[in-house]
Amino acid sequence: MRYHLLGVFLRLASIVHLVLGAAVFHWPDPLLDTLDDQLYRPGFSPASTFALNCGPRDNSTIAAQWLRLAYHDMATHDSTTGTGGMDASIVFEFDRPQNIGVGMLESLVDFLVAPNEYVGMADVIAMGAINAVVGCGGPVIPFRGGRIDATEAGPATVPEPQQDLASHIASFKAQGFTETEMISLVACGHSLGGVRQADFPLIMTEDVPAGIQTFASTLGFDNTVVTEYLKGTTENVLVVGSNITTRSDFRIFSSDGNVTMQSLASPDNFNQVCADLIGRMIDTVPSTVTLTDPIEPIDFKVWNTLLFPQGGSLAFLATLRIIDTGVNRTVTMFWKERTGTFCPPAGCSVPSFQVTTDSASFLATLKGVTAFKLHSFNAAIDLTTSISQFWFEVNDNDGSAPFIVDNNGVNYTIDQDVVLFDPRRSSFTIGGLFMVVGVKDPSTSINVTALTTIDGTTTVPVTSSVIANFELDSSNPPADGYMFYTSPISGKSLSNTIHATVNGTAYSLWVPFLDAPGV
Ligand code: HEM
Ligand SMILES: *[C@@H]1O[C@H](CO)[C@@H](O)[C@H](O)[C@H]1NC(C)=O
Ligand SMILES: *[C@@H]1O[C@H](CO)[C@@H](O)[C@H](O)[C@H]1NC(C)=O
Ligand SMILES: *[C@@H]1O[C@H](CO)[C@@H](O)[C@H](O)[C@H]1NC(C)=O
Ligand SMILES: *[C@@H]1O[C@H](CO)[C@@H](O)[C@H](O)[C@H]1NC(C)=O
Ligand SMILES: *[C@@H]1O[C@H](CO)[C@@H](O)[C@H](O)[C@H]1NC(C)=O
Ligand SMILES: *[C@@H]1O[C@H](CO)[C@@H](O)[C@H](O)[C@H]1NC(C)=O
Ligand SMILES: *[C@@H]1O[C@H](CO)[C@@H](O)[C@H](O)[C@H]1NC(C)=O
Repeated sequence: MRYHLLGVFLRLASIVHLVLGAAVFHWPDPLLDTLDDQLYRPGFSPASTFALNCGPRDNSTIAAQWLRLAYHDMATHDSTTGTGGMDASIVFEFDRPQNIGVGMLESLVDFLVAPNEYVGMADVIAMGAINAVVGCGGPVIPFRGGRIDATEAGPATVPEPQQDLASHIASFKAQGFTETEMISLVACGHSLGGVRQADFPLIMTEDVPAGIQTFASTLGFDNTVVTEYLKGTTENVLVVGSNITTRSDFRIFSSDGNVTMQSLASPDNFNQVCADLIGRMIDTVPSTVTLTDPIEPIDFKVWNTLLFPQGGSLAFLATLRIIDTGVNRTVTMFWKERTGTFCPPAGCSVPSFQVTTDSASFLATLKGVTAFKLHSFNAAIDLTTSISQFWFEVNDNDGSAPFIVDNNGVNYTIDQDVVLFDPRRSSFTIGGLFMVVGVKDPSTSINVTALTTIDGTTTVPVTSSVIANFELDSSNPPADGYMFYTSPISGKSLSNTIHATVNGTAYSLWVPFLDAPGV
């Protein structure tokens, strides 16, 4: 019954692309915007790319390393105090003995360039866990965003193999899992990877080829770890290793007379239980954090908007990304003035100058989305009357009435044209970006700054931020009513937010990583 309902639900979802309970995107929303890109655009995030095809690393898999990293990050949670959990505190803990293994730092280095001012490393680690599981053929786990990164290490509460069963039950209880859930979650986690001799010589007492004993004989995410345990053919050293003290998987798996392990012998049940428990694992966050609803591929997503003075007008670039349904759509962008009258009553309009197809990520294809159509616009906006809002009209070219795309009913609003990032005057240099910001009619000399989010290093994988101070730059003389302020921005910049106070009003402008057509 459950499966039947799910099948109907997925079919509906793939037709109307509206998933009940999914996060609703109201542009601009840098968090959802970035997470959607990272989840569903191929190659956009290392956290959705590297673990595809269950690829190998260090004689284990990248996926195994990512899944272990996520569990160890979560394991600092204390459900009684509501502290710890998926908060990327692991960036301060990876050199603790309980987190031994090259995979920890390597995985964090995989993720270095994925965070930005709005997306924390904790969201990226959680995304990595989801992609690890599907990359190895496992079930799809919903992704919620909004985790907040810790600024210091959490308690040393990762369970260790030499601890007794009572300690493990207590650890999992503190993390929010019952004894049954503990058995299942360990079985799910130990579907991937294994124990390496270099790190655990007291567990791996015998030499094995490649220096690692895998938990199961299959590489992928499946229940072989369970079935081999039940058949007595397992080579999992945490079950059958010669050191009895460190047979933690045996103590855990058999702790309820094998009832739970027997239930996981069904592959469907294994997948369902693992999707649920790994989902709960990555959604275990400090009680002060509220996660978004699950993020599904956003249909009709506006992104990469740019507004800047150019040759006597304001250039406005925008892209509308539509989930490809095979329909040959024509899209027109409309806009309305900020002041005065310039446009006809129905709005000024421009057709898209380019329609391209972008493939979807592997995770998106598992959700029935195989490609996106990118409709790009380049409008010359009247300088004096400017622009206050825009919207789109979509024609399916099949005789049906065109429909309006208006940001789910709230319009796409351009809140200001006073402080603008100018991509054409800006330039990329060896050292990074030479960023140019146009400021409209400042009455006095003002301070323009940017908060730059900088990626961590391969030894300290912690995102940081710096403030750049902009200066008036005579090589960019005033034009079109704007003065131009410039500053070099670090090549390690992940995103920037420009801040300026003009005539007593504070303005800020988020400038994400740019890949807009037409720039
Ligand atoms: C009592 C609880 C647990 C203990 C004592 C334990 C212990 C271990 C040990 C000793 C290793 C070998 C690490 C290495 O050699 O690099 C390992 C690997 C691993 N663990 Fe656990 N674990 C536990 C729970 C979990 C859970 C809940 C998950 C995830 C849901 C998980 C996921 C993994 C994965 C994926 C690996 C393989 C890593 C690789 O191959 O690089 N473990 N675990
Ligand atoms: C078994 O492992 C425990 C915990 O690491 C260690 O203290 C003990 O010395 C080991 N026993 C043998 C025989 O290696
Ligand atoms: C992987 O296994 C090979 C032997 O098959 C070994 O030479 C190498 O050191 C191992 N690499 C790691 C990182 O353990
Ligand atoms: C559970 O299964 C394991 C592996 O087959 C076996 O060694 C153990 O005796 C079983 N325990 C119980 C209580 O049935
Ligand atoms: C799509 O529709 C437009 C407008 O009707 C038409 O000009 C264009 O050739 C069509 N493209 C394809 C690929 O059918
Ligand atoms: C959206 O824009 C239209 C046209 O300008 C306006 O009538 C409507 O009130 C706006 N809606 C919202 C929610 O701002
Ligand atoms: C700032 O003040 C000056 C002088 O009053 C005025 O000319 C200018 O239009 C103002 N600029 C903005 C962006 O409000
Ligand atoms: C501008 O920034 C500089 C350096 O941060 C500071 O000394 C100065 O007071 C600021 N001026 C204004 C008008 O905020």
